[in-house]
Amino acid sequence: MLGFLFSIQTTFCQIPAQIKPDTSFQSGLLSKVYLFTNPEAKKLIEIKVDTFYNASILEKVEVSDLLKNFSFAGQVPFLMEVSGEIVIPENRPYLFKLRSSDGSALWIDGKKVVNNDGVHKSTESEAEFDLDAGPHSILIRHFKKDPEPNKELCLSWFEPSKNGFEIIPPEFFRILKSSVRQAMNQVQPLSVPDLKSIGNTSEVLHPSLSKSVLHKKNFNRKRGRKNFRSEGSIILSRRDSLGKENKMSKPDSKAKILLEGSRLVGPSGCLACHKENDKVLGPAFRLVAQKYKSDPATVKRLVEKVYNGGTGVWGDYAMAPQSHLKKDKIEKMVRWILSLK
Ligand code: HEC
Repeated sequence: MLGFLFSIQTTFCQIPAQIKPDTSFQSGLLSKVYLFTNPEAKKLIEIKVDTFYNASILEKVEVSDLLKNFSFAGQVPFLMEVSGEIVIPENRPYLFKLRSSDGSALWIDGKKVVNNDGVHKSTESEAEFDLDAGPHSILIRHFKKDPEPNKELCLSWFEPSKNGFEIIPPEFFRILKSSVRQAMNQVQPLSVPDLKSIGNTSEVLHPSLSKSVLHKKNFNRKRGRKNFRSEGSIILSRRDSLGKENKMSKPDSKAKILLEGSRLVGPSGCLACHKENDKVLGPAFRLVAQKYKSDPATVKRLVEKVYNGGTGVWGDYAMAPQSHLKKDKIEKMVRWILSLK
């Protein structure tokens, strides 16, 4: 008899869903970043995406500069998609504010809520939207075209208790772990110029991350070979532990040129016909690097070839003249291409 009762209980007594922690989610939102191939695009809808080169988790939608999110190699133009769920605390209208330099828009449950599209300097748009308590799907799409190394995207909402806007705090966001896994498997990181030949790793990510800035000679290193704050975050600031600003030493000009070259191929339209590792219409840039020496004569010859266009070296297709570009820019790209050995 007792055994019978017990078995009924185990069958019918289920833990209510809202108490059971949902282990299929993790906190944060998923950010996916793509290169796009039509730099003339002026609106989100016109963008044709190419390489999916970066996937990361954002705690909140506040991406204010490259230093805070340096896994971006600062490649432009890029399209960023931030997705996941927003868990709404109570039934009421919510006033959202989206800020970006260049275009962005916010969708909730598939409906466009805030539109901040177009090519523009840092601009804000607001809109109010009725929401029921509980999870809702959220998507932000954002693109940036101009190659300056900072970028900006910020999502806030009006918080009645503060009588003002606040950046939506991390506890309201969650993302399916399976979506994160899938994205991490699909991402195709862009290779950066050969770090050993440049000898200055972090500068490839951003010129202000050069070792001389990060690790000033008399900097007091706290743990291992890196500088940490007490709470464990790594110090990327230009100030040393006493708050004194480091003097920028002369940047490594070779690394700078390669970095600029790697950033120019997207906006200059080269990626319509070339990829780093695969043949498209033109040869893979890596094969071009392997074929030639990286001496000044080769650089000069290839700059002329790109400027004037030509055919016959890699097959029957011709490269259209790229004479709309300045030769010094082409030279930076050629030097970057030749560094891909
Ligand atoms: C319309 C398509 C197209 C575009 C756009 C294009 N290329 Fe090419 N590129 C080609 C083709 C095709 C070849 C192979 C030409 C040949 O066989 O001589 C080529 C060859 C090259 C080569 C090797 C040349 C040689 O003689 O070995 C370099 C370097 C190069 N491209 C760089 C660039 C750069 C930099 C850009 C952007 C500014 C660019 N390409 C844009 C199609 C293109």
